[in-house]
Amino acid sequence: MVFTHKQQNKLLLILGVTLLLVLACGQSGKNARQQFDDDSTLVFKHFKLANARQAFKKAIAQFEKNNPGVKVKEEILPSNTNIQHQFYVTSLEARSSDFDVFLIDVIWTPEFSLAGWLEDLSDLLPPEEQSDFFHAPIQADIYRGRLYAIPWYIDAGVLYYRKDLLQKYGFSPPVTFEELVNQAQVILRNEKRPDLNGFLWQGKQYEGLICTANEIISGFGGQIIDARGKVHLTDPATRQALQWLKDCIYLYKISPAWVLSADEESTRLSFLNGHTLFLRNWPYCWTFFQREDSKVRGKVGVTHIPALAGITGKSTLGGWQLAINRFSAKKELTKRLVSFLASPQMQLQFALEVGTKPTRKPLYQNPFLIKEQPFIVKLFPILENTIPRPVTPLYSQISQILQVEFSAILSNIRPVDKALKSAKVQIEHVLELEELKKEIEK
Ligand code: GLC
Repeated sequence: MVFTHKQQNKLLLILGVTLLLVLACGQSGKNARQQFDDDSTLVFKHFKLANARQAFKKAIAQFEKNNPGVKVKEEILPSNTNIQHQFYVTSLEARSSDFDVFLIDVIWTPEFSLAGWLEDLSDLLPPEEQSDFFHAPIQADIYRGRLYAIPWYIDAGVLYYRKDLLQKYGFSPPVTFEELVNQAQVILRNEKRPDLNGFLWQGKQYEGLICTANEIISGFGGQIIDARGKVHLTDPATRQALQWLKDCIYLYKISPAWVLSADEESTRLSFLNGHTLFLRNWPYCWTFFQREDSKVRGKVGVTHIPALAGITGKSTLGGWQLAINRFSAKKELTKRLVSFLASPQMQLQFALEVGTKPTRKPLYQNPFLIKEQPFIVKLFPILENTIPRPVTPLYSQISQILQVEFSAILSNIRPVDKALKSAKVQIEHVLELEELKKEIEK
């Protein structure tokens, strides 16, 4: 076929326009897909949970399989709760939408909810389903009548002990503080092993120290702040509790000086390697102690934290919650991920594979879980009867004050009475300022 010059020009024009259209369509197709990729990738931020790498990967793969086209990217923070808190406060104050779903410590929910950083999750967990959960963490996640986070796993302080050593000396697990001290002293004296620690706990200047102190104070019959906001730091029970912890190091000599820099992991490792008689820690350790590489496999017992004779002490409530960043642009997808991770199936899977303790109570009757981890039967009443750290949006400020003062007591820098009085004055000041602010806002 022969074209005239005019026809050739017309043809070129048509070809050019078609090419542009094809390119444009391709480009917009690519943009659309790019858009789609970004929109369907969720960033899940959580801390480095011991023993949990594979479990997270597996859970995410399952979620992605159930939700074709959706991707979940994990971003992992260090496990120290103080460091995580700092990170989230900085990001969320800047209204960052860099992450969508995240794990929060049970003590942060009121603070983050008041700041407007958490998505309201009341619809995800209606009241009839909430009653399946342990009461204390649900209460800690409700702010002004709305649910802002879903309890994912629960923690409570427990006492691990060396069954074999206690048996050797004819002791049953200690129920009182006095028994714990006496048993540790007798065993340390007779074993004559310089590598053996009597009693380990988390004594470093960080949140873990407040968890330890909170339950020892409860064991002496006291509490830090009551429900009406009254500060009880100079009560005899609080003084005795801090004095007792201090005495464990300097007077009874059952806790080594390094407890002052000890956290959960360093104390767990010492016990795991056979160097410790009594250990205060969270339930996650149990799984590690039963593993084949554990030096204490089959030699470990678990019981509740001792108390003063005649007093039923309570363990500190700990644990982690699933929350949604209110600045996330992907609310529907985030809700799907949170519901999936909070489901009974996922809580069970993590309990079996990682050793985290479910927040859903019916799972404690699961025959398979009981067979794998028989101690959960004994743990259940401890988990049901915990003592929370003060539930208030001001908790972080209060805890900062306590960390400094408790640490000064234990390191012998400040006398018990002086430090507790100073902490009381500072905390009352924080609470008064808050009251004043509320008055002004009215
Ligand atoms: C555990 C607890 C958490 C607590 C922290 C202190 O992670 O679950 O609630 O604040 O230990 O170290």
